[in-house]
Amino acid sequence: MYFCNALIFVLTLVSTVYACGGDGHNHAQHKRSPSSIPLTPPTSPLEWGDVNIIHTTDSHGWLLGHQKTSFPEPNYSGTLGDFASFVTHMKALAKKKDVDLLLVDSGDLHDGTGLSDGFPPGGIDAQDSNKFLLQLPYDTMAIGNHELYIYNDTLDMYKNFAPKLNGRYLSSNVNITLPDSNISVPVGERFRKFTTEKGRKVTALGVIFHFTANDKRTTVQAPADMVKEAWFAEAIQEEPDFFLLTGHMPVANDDWPLVFNAVRAVHPTTPIIILGGHTHIRDCNQPDGRSMALESGRYMETVGWLSAKLDQKGSTGNITFSRRYLDPNRVTYEYHTGVSSNAYDTAAGQSITQGLDNLAESFDLNFLFGTAPQDYSLSRSPYPSNNSLLSLFVGEVLPFALAINNSRASIPNIIITNNGPLRFDLYSGPFTKNDQLTASPLTDSFLYIANVTAGIANKVLPTFNNPGAIQRREYIERDVEMYRRGYVDMRYRAWLEGMAARASGIERRAAGNLTLGYVTNDSCPGVGDDTPHMPLPYFPVPHYIASPSPSVSDDTPVDIVFPDFIAARVLSVLNRIQTLKNYTSSDVASYSPLPADVVLGLYAQSKWN
Ligand SMILES: *[C@@H]1O[C@H](CO)[C@@H](O)[C@H](O)[C@H]1NC(C)=O
Ligand SMILES: *[C@@H]1O[C@H](CO)[C@@H](O)[C@H](O)[C@H]1NC(C)=O
Ligand SMILES: *[C@@H]1O[C@H](CO)[C@@H](O)[C@H](O)[C@H]1NC(C)=O
Ligand SMILES: *[C@@H]1O[C@H](CO)[C@@H](O)[C@H](O)[C@H]1NC(C)=O
Ligand SMILES: *[C@@H]1O[C@H](CO)[C@@H](O)[C@H](O)[C@H]1NC(C)=O
Ligand SMILES: *[C@@H]1O[C@H](CO)[C@@H](O)[C@H](O)[C@H]1NC(C)=O
Ligand SMILES: *[C@@H]1O[C@H](CO)[C@@H](O)[C@H](O)[C@H]1NC(C)=O
Ligand SMILES: *[C@@H]1O[C@H](CO)[C@@H](O)[C@H](O)[C@H]1NC(C)=O
Ligand SMILES: *[C@@H]1O[C@H](CO)[C@@H](O)[C@H](O)[C@H]1NC(C)=O
Ligand SMILES: *[C@@H]1O[C@H](CO)[C@@H](O)[C@H](O)[C@H]1NC(C)=O
Ligand SMILES: *[C@@H]1O[C@H](CO)[C@@H](O)[C@H](O)[C@H]1NC(C)=O
Ligand SMILES: [Zn+2]
Ligand SMILES: [Zn+2]
Repeated sequence: MYFCNALIFVLTLVSTVYACGGDGHNHAQHKRSPSSIPLTPPTSPLEWGDVNIIHTTDSHGWLLGHQKTSFPEPNYSGTLGDFASFVTHMKALAKKKDVDLLLVDSGDLHDGTGLSDGFPPGGIDAQDSNKFLLQLPYDTMAIGNHELYIYNDTLDMYKNFAPKLNGRYLSSNVNITLPDSNISVPVGERFRKFTTEKGRKVTALGVIFHFTANDKRTTVQAPADMVKEAWFAEAIQEEPDFFLLTGHMPVANDDWPLVFNAVRAVHPTTPIIILGGHTHIRDCNQPDGRSMALESGRYMETVGWLSAKLDQKGSTGNITFSRRYLDPNRVTYEYHTGVSSNAYDTAAGQSITQGLDNLAESFDLNFLFGTAPQDYSLSRSPYPSNNSLLSLFVGEVLPFALAINNSRASIPNIIITNNGPLRFDLYSGPFTKNDQLTASPLTDSFLYIANVTAGIANKVLPTFNNPGAIQRREYIERDVEMYRRGYVDMRYRAWLEGMAARASGIERRAAGNLTLGYVTNDSCPGVGDDTPHMPLPYFPVPHYIASPSPSVSDDTPVDIVFPDFIAARVLSVLNRIQTLKNYTSSDVASYSPLPADVVLGLYAQSKWN
């Protein structure tokens, strides 16, 4: 269940304008670039090479862009339709420059917004939203772990998505066992060999990290084993003009070196381009002078750019690469394409955005629960504080929602949870069905243990957050285990923490009037961020959080309430801090029938109207 924690996503999309719109394109257009928010352009043109790549990864259903007006959301306000127009204009530029331009995606198309997750009962996650991605001219797309948690999602990719890509959907080390037989087959292709428009030969792979929380009847092979396969040796034998190692694996601290070295062992100097993903950060490194590895963030908050000036076959000197992390918005897109606003939209781009708007409508994603009075963030405000989403959730939302129609409501309680049920910030303004799905998607319900004296109950949270030596080792082991199961929040948070820490007072003053956003310090030469920003503030959060202690005497019996996925840990902690009673699962009962993904809506309906 820990994989649930991996769903710490970002999303928002419906603005006030949207809520009162409904008459088609003009409103939609207005909504996309709120005119009240001036967007600053990038600082310098992209560096083009002979081979150029536009890269997306971990889009997680954010296909209508980020539509809230609080910073830094407008920076990521481009829709998939705006992006499609961008790709079209960039392709035209490439033609004019007589160079190659490829489009690549590194996976995780499922789980993140109402567009992917807001489907009616009986539907399949992202089945509708993925159809819009198929309208873009992707050269390779790789499978991600979020395509593999639920067998039916994987089956949909196998049956309906991969065939449309006609050999361009890559799953080098992922198989699915077919429903009507016990035959295991790759979900897409294991590799793709193709020739670019300018006649360059490419060998592409689509490799996922060693993921272990995949559903039954799907198979993930460790990259270490994949590189020993006969098909792999055969696929890389022939020398292309360059290798395109696409895959759902971070470019640092994972298994890319295994794949890279396996290729290098056969081809010591052939250019290698790695396009990774999964940890939701902007990152880049160069395994050697003739290769570059790029990772392009998450949630359509980043579009990656990589270019290479290839030399003659057989050369051994360093290749000139460049990389850039673009903030996906119309200003960025218009700046780099040189196409002015009124000429920018292509018919295909407009139809994609319109189609996504229609999808949002058919999923009723604009359903309004209430109007949030302010922003609540996961890591930009301290916990506890009035601007912390964690404080709001455990201090107000859960105590309110779990008391509804609950016969135990009058018994004092302590509600304990980790941040697992929350995946994205909550912004001021309309709080809709889409916002609810984005902020808190888990369907886990809440359990309780009765009759714990307040004195003992008050010790549970500190014990969770201050583990002893043995438990600390368990935590580290659990982190490794959680990473294998797809949990990436610790890596994403470490990245945020690093950029906030680097921004010393001096840097902050020099930043002058820069806007908030990502500030990337990767291992590639030069500056990566296309638009300079001042880093987002970062505050650490404890592993576990709790509602305020009830003001009762230590010997008063209280209920301990918690989400089902931490039940075993609550029992273990209770048995560690007291010896009067051996708590077992028979002491645990259902506290409320309400799942975690409805509590914010119930709260908003009552308090924000
Ligand atoms: C980012 O958003 C802020 C407002 O939140 C805006 O002032 C800034 O210009 C934006 N930057 C870009 C590159 O869009
Ligand atoms: C998967 O899809 C099949 C066929 O549509 C359906 O019968 C089954 O209930 C689905 N399973 C789950 C877990 O949703
Ligand atoms: C698939 O394998 C299972 C377990 O090994 C077996 O029970 C089942 O009969 C097999 N189905 C087919 C169609 O071979
Ligand atoms: C994947 O499917 C292929 C084709 O059926 C099979 O040869 C291979 O053994 C499978 N790989 C794994 C890791 O299951
Ligand atoms: C070539 O690139 C490698 C790796 O990036 C670097 O260590 C080396 O100094 C470069 N050599 C030259 C001559 O620039
Ligand atoms: C937080 O909110 C409470 C209740 O609205 C208020 O009393 C308190 O002053 C606020 N604290 C801060 C630091 O704004
Ligand atoms: C609480 O009970 C009332 C009356 O039975 C019902 O209308 C309402 O939907 C219930 N609320 C929730 C959140 O289940
Ligand atoms: C709580 O304890 C009281 C007295 O010790 C007992 O009567 C009651 O049955 C207990 N309730 C539960 C739910 O265990
Ligand atoms: C602040 O913004 C103004 C106007 O956009 C610009 O001229 C100036 O260079 C900026 N200052 C800094 C430190 O970026
Ligand atoms: C940026 O990262 C590099 C390592 O990639 C490190 O050497 C350097 O000190 C970092 N810069 C700052 C300002 O922290
Ligand atoms: C507590 O109960 C569990 C389950 O019945 C049992 O396995 C365990 O040995 C018990 N521990 C103690 C200390 O009695
Ligand atoms: Zn992801
Ligand atoms: Zn992932």
